[in-house]
Amino acid sequence: MTETLGIAGSGTIASGLAVVASAGTDVVLWARSEESQERVRAAIAKGASRHEGADPGRITVTTELADLDACSFLVEAIVEDHASKAALLADLAELTMHQNETAILSTTTSSLSVSELAEASGHPERFVGLHVFNPVPVMKLVEVVFAPATSEETRARTLALCEQLAKVAVITPDTPGFVVNRLLFPYLFDAANFMAESGLEAAAIDEAMKLGAGVPMGPLALLDYVGLDVSKAIGDSLSLETPAPMAALIAEGALGKKAGRGFYDYS
Ligand code: 3HC
Repeated sequence: MTETLGIAGSGTIASGLAVVASAGTDVVLWARSEESQERVRAAIAKGASRHEGADPGRITVTTELADLDACSFLVEAIVEDHASKAALLADLAELTMHQNETAILSTTTSSLSVSELAEASGHPERFVGLHVFNPVPVMKLVEVVFAPATSEETRARTLALCEQLAKVAVITPDTPGFVVNRLLFPYLFDAANFMAESGLEAAAIDEAMKLGAGVPMGPLALLDYVGLDVSKAIGDSLSLETPAPMAALIAEGALGKKAGRGFYDYS
C-alpha cells in the first residue's frame, strides 16, 4: 500500500520530509500559525525545485490539525521537547486515531525516548520513531525506533514507508541519541571545546577534518547547520556539557546558519 503522509510541524525536517514524500504520495502538513504556514510554503517551494520528482501540488498546508485525519501515516515533527511533543501526540491521536483504526503515528525525535512518547500517544502499538536527517532530501538514512509495544504490522508498514521515501532504514535501540547522534555529538562538542583550547579558527578545524577525515562538512559548520539550540538539546539528552564557546553564542542569539550567525557569519 502507498501511505499518505500527515505531517505535524513546519520546520526544516517537516518541510524536507513533505518534499521527499510528495514524489510518491499526497501529503497534508499542519502548521501552528498563519506565519508558520507562509514560511513552510516558501521552504517547500524552494526544496521541491531542487528535488527530482517532488510535486508541491501534492502537498496541502493547513492550520487545522483535524485536516490530517484522512492520512494513513502521521508524523510529528515539532520542537525537541518532551512536553510539547507529548501534548501534540495526544491531540493527534484524539483527532485521528479513533476514527481511523489503521493509522500509524510517529515522531521524528532525535534524542527523546520513543517508548515514553508512544505511551503519551495512548496508542503504543501503532507508534514508531522515524529519525530523519538534515537536509532530508539529501540524507539517505532513517533511524527507525520501535517501542516495546509496537505491533508487527506497524513495524512492517514503517519499513515499507522508508522504501516508499527512497530511504535506507536502520533499526536502532531506543537509547539517547540512537546511533548517529550518540556517536556524532561527542565529536562535534569536542571540536567546539578544542577550538577554545587551541585558539584555532573554526575554518581551520573544519578544513582539517574535511580534507583529513573525508567528512562532507567540518564539525563547527555542522553544528551551525543543525542549529546551536537544537545541538544543545541533543547534548543535554546525551548528558554532554555544552561547550563554553557554543553556550556563549547561544546566549547572544547566534544560533547558527538559520540565525545568520553561529561559529560562522552568514550575513
Ligand atoms: N534539498 C534541500 N537542501 C539541500 C539540497 C537538497 N536537495 N542539496 C543541498 N542542500 C542545501 C544545503 O543545506 C545548503 O542550503 P541553502 O542553499 O538553502 O543555504 C545548500 O543546499 C548547499 O548546497 P550545495 O549544493 O552547495 O550542497 P553541498 O554540496 O555543499 O552539500 C550538504 C550540502 C548536503 C549539506 C553536505 O555538506 C552534507 O552532506 N553535509 C553533512 C550533513 C550532515 O551530516 N547531516 C546530518 C546532521 S545530524 C542530523 O541531522 C541529526 C539531527 O537529529 C540533528
